[in-house]
Amino acid sequence: MDVIEAIRTRRSVRHFTAEAIPDEVLDRLLEALRLAPTGGNQQPFKFVVVRDAEIKTRLAAACRFRSGKPNGHDFVAEAPLAIVACGSDDAAISRFYDGGEVALAPGKDVPSEIQRRRGEYLNLMEIDLAIAVDHLVLQATAEGLGTCWIAALDEREVKKLLSVPKEMRVLVVVPIGYTDSWPAVRPRRPLEEIVCYDKYA
Ligand SMILES: Cc1cc2nc3c(=O)[nH]c(=O)nc-3n(C[C@H](O)[C@H](O)[C@H](O)COP(=O)(O)O)c2cc1C
Repeated sequence: MDVIEAIRTRRSVRHFTAEAIPDEVLDRLLEALRLAPTGGNQQPFKFVVVRDAEIKTRLAAACRFRSGKPNGHDFVAEAPLAIVACGSDDAAISRFYDGGEVALAPGKDVPSEIQRRRGEYLNLMEIDLAIAVDHLVLQATAEGLGTCWIAALDEREVKKLLSVPKEMRVLVVVPIGYTDSWPAVRPRRPLEEIVCYDKYA
């Protein structure tokens, strides 16, 4: 499957079969994460692979906010594994405006008064993590696996459950597994609404 085919095939899958994911497939998924580009090549992340049934059940419970339903993400526990993406703002590169010059530096080196000024400061951790997770999701699609991005989670609860250190953020949980119900395509805005040329229009 080439890249555009994986992009076209991917769906948010919310039902999984119990079929196990072979180790060599998991290795390729993790390699796709590892090879992702990051600002300054800082690689400010850690990914927790959750396979234990009890921990998955508690993880599903911590992702409880889907459409206001208390158990809207129970399907996380159905998947043979879930990957939890954690990132460090301090380890990631930040972009900021420094008295006439645009500067890049690790987040921990940026003065906190600059960090507080909106519009002049951007920490790249969330971008870095999103790219890595998209690599993962597209490789999973190419392997015939279903995935779902889950950002609606109780971060404090997930951190406690997985012993994630205080300085790390938990951004996304991705359950991964085979499915017998591949969802229909969801609509997207037409190209002319989201692309313009030479200036914003
Ligand atoms: C950043 C991000 C966060 C998302 N969070 C959730 C979530 O918490 N729960 C969920 O069920 N789906 C979540 N989704 C899935 C979206 O609802 C889904 O991608 C969108 O409706 C388009 O459908 P498709 O993925 O099948 O194309 C998330 C997707 C993204 C990219």
